Amino acid sequence: VIRCQSTNTDEPKTRNLLDNASNLLTSLLSGGGLGSMPIAEGAVSDLFGRPLFFSLYDWFLEHGSVYKLAFGPKAFVVISDPIVARHILRENAFSYDKGVLADILEPIMGKGLIPADLGIWKQRRRVIAPGFHSLYLEAMVKIFTDCSERSTLKFEQLLEREDSLGRNVIELDLEAEFSNLALDIIGLGVFNYDFGSVTKESPVIKAVYGTLFEAEHRSTFYVPYWKIPLARWIVPRQRKFQNDLKIINDCLDELIKNAKETRQETDVEKLQQRDYSNLKDASLLRFLVDMRGADADDGQLRDDLMTMLIAGHETTAAVLTWSIFLLAQNPSKMKKAQAEIDTVLGQGRPTFDLLKKLEYIRLIVVEALRLYPQPPLLIRRALKSDVLPGGYKGDKDGYAIPSGTDIFISLYNLHRSPYFWDSPNEFEPERFLVQRKNEEIEGWAGFDPSRSPGALYPNEIISDFAFLPFGGGPRKCVGDQFALMESTVALAMLLQKFDVELKASPELVELVTGATIHTKNGLWCKLRKRSNVH
Ligand code: HEM
Repeated sequence: VIRCQSTNTDEPKTRNLLDNASNLLTSLLSGGGLGSMPIAEGAVSDLFGRPLFFSLYDWFLEHGSVYKLAFGPKAFVVISDPIVARHILRENAFSYDKGVLADILEPIMGKGLIPADLGIWKQRRRVIAPGFHSLYLEAMVKIFTDCSERSTLKFEQLLEREDSLGRNVIELDLEAEFSNLALDIIGLGVFNYDFGSVTKESPVIKAVYGTLFEAEHRSTFYVPYWKIPLARWIVPRQRKFQNDLKIINDCLDELIKNAKETRQETDVEKLQQRDYSNLKDASLLRFLVDMRGADADDGQLRDDLMTMLIAGHETTAAVLTWSIFLLAQNPSKMKKAQAEIDTVLGQGRPTFDLLKKLEYIRLIVVEALRLYPQPPLLIRRALKSDVLPGGYKGDKDGYAIPSGTDIFISLYNLHRSPYFWDSPNEFEPERFLVQRKNEEIEGWAGFDPSRSPGALYPNEIISDFAFLPFGGGPRKCVGDQFALMESTVALAMLLQKFDVELKASPELVELVTGATIHTKNGLWCKLRKRSNVH
C-alpha cells in the first residue's frame, strides 16, 4: 500500500513516488518486469566490430523476440515481435517518445517531426501530412523522371567516351550516384531547390553531406561529447558541423523568405485540387506556406524542411543501392525486371499511371526494404510505465516496462524473422504476391492484401506489423509513397538503359550503419548499354 499525502502531482518528489508506485504495480500485475526478461550481455567489441543490428539478430535467435541488452550500466529492450511492435507503435503510441534518437537529432532537426515532442508533433503532423496528397505525388513523378534522366544521360555520355576508346563498359560507384540523385529529388520536391548534384559540386551540397556524416557519427558514437559546453567551438569536427548547419539554414531561410513573399493564401481543399500540371513550383514548401492556418514561424518551417531533407535523402539512396546489389546477384530477376520495363515503358518514361503496371519493380523495391530496412532499428523511450502484450512465443503475460525504459524495435529482425517469413534471407520479390493465412500464431493476423485495399505497395497493415519499413501508427513516415514511387522510377529508368554487374564479389561489399545501412567503400558496379532490349 502506497500512501501519498501530497495532492500536487506535478511536484517532482510526488511525481517520482507515483512513477515508482505505478512501475511496481504494473510489474506485479504482469508476468514480470525487466528483471525476468532474458538478458543478452553485450561486449564493447559488439559495438565496434560489426554493425550492431547483426549482433541483435544473433541474440534474437538465441534469446527470443523480447530481450534485454545490457552494456555495462546501460540497458535496452530489444523487440523483434510484430504483436509487441504494433502495441508500442500504434496501440499505445503516445506512451513513448523518440528517446535517444531525439537527443541525437534535435541539434540538426530542431523541432522537426522526427525528434519533436508530442505537443509540437501534433500541430506539425496535421499541417505536413496533407501536403503529400495524390496530385502532389503525381506532380512529383515528373520530377523523379527528370532527375533520373539526368543520371542516365550522364552515364550514357561516360559510356560514349569509353566507346570512342574501344571499350563498352564504365565503372561507377552507384551508391554515390544514387545519393546525388536522391538529393536532387528531395531538394526539388520539398523546397523547389535544384542542388544539381548529379552534375556538379557546391558548398551547399558539401554542407548537406557534412551534416549527414555528423548525424551518423553521433548515432554510432556512444559518448555525447558534443553536449559539453564549448565543444562546438573547440572540437574541429564540431566547428565544421556548426558551419555546415549554418550554410544549409541560410539557404533554407532564403527559400522560405521567397515562398512567403509570393504567398497565395487559400484553404487546404483548394490547394489539394489546384492544377499541378501547370504549376511552376509544386513543392511541399509552397503548399505549407500557402496553406491557411499554417502560420508556422520561419524557425519551425526551417526545422520541418531540414527534417525532410535528411529523412528523405539517404534512406531512398540506400533502397536503390540495395536493390541493385540484390539484382546484380540474381541475373534472372534482373532480366525479368527488364522484360517488364520493356513491356510497360518501351523506350518511354514512367508516368504516375504506368507505375501501377510496373508491379515487379515495385516488389523489388519493397523486398530490398525488407532485407535492408532503413533505418534498421526504431528507437523509443517509455514515457510512463506500460505492460507489453505477450509475444507469439507463448510468454502470454508480457513484460512490465518501467517508465524511462529505452527500446529498440528491430526492423531487421522482424523482416528476417524465421517465424514469419519463408527463406527469410533470400531475395524473393514474388513472396509478396503469396497470401499467408495464419493459424499457428495467436494474436497475429497473417498477410492479407485486402486489409489495405488500393495500396500500390505492401505495407505494415497487410502484414499486421511483420513488415514495417516505414514504421506504423501515428508516427509512420509521411514520405512513404513519395520514396517508393521515386525508387520505382529511378530503378526502372536505370534498368531500361543499362545492364548492371557488381565490379567485385558481393562478399567484398562491407556493410556499415548509422541511420541507414550503407556500404563501407561504395557499391562499385560495371554498366553496359543494354543489348537485349525487346
Ligand atoms: C519517419 C523510413 C523516406 C519523411 C520515418 C520512419 C521510418 C521512415 C521507418 C518512422 C520512424 C520512427 O517511427 O521512429 C523511411 C524510408 C524512406 C523514407 C525507408 C525511403 C525509402 C522519407 C521521405 C520523407 C520522409 C522521402 C519526406 C519527404 C519522414 C518524416 C518522418 C519519417 C517527416 C517523421 C514522421 C512523424 O514522426 O510524424 N521514415 N522514410 N521519409 N519520415 Fe521517412
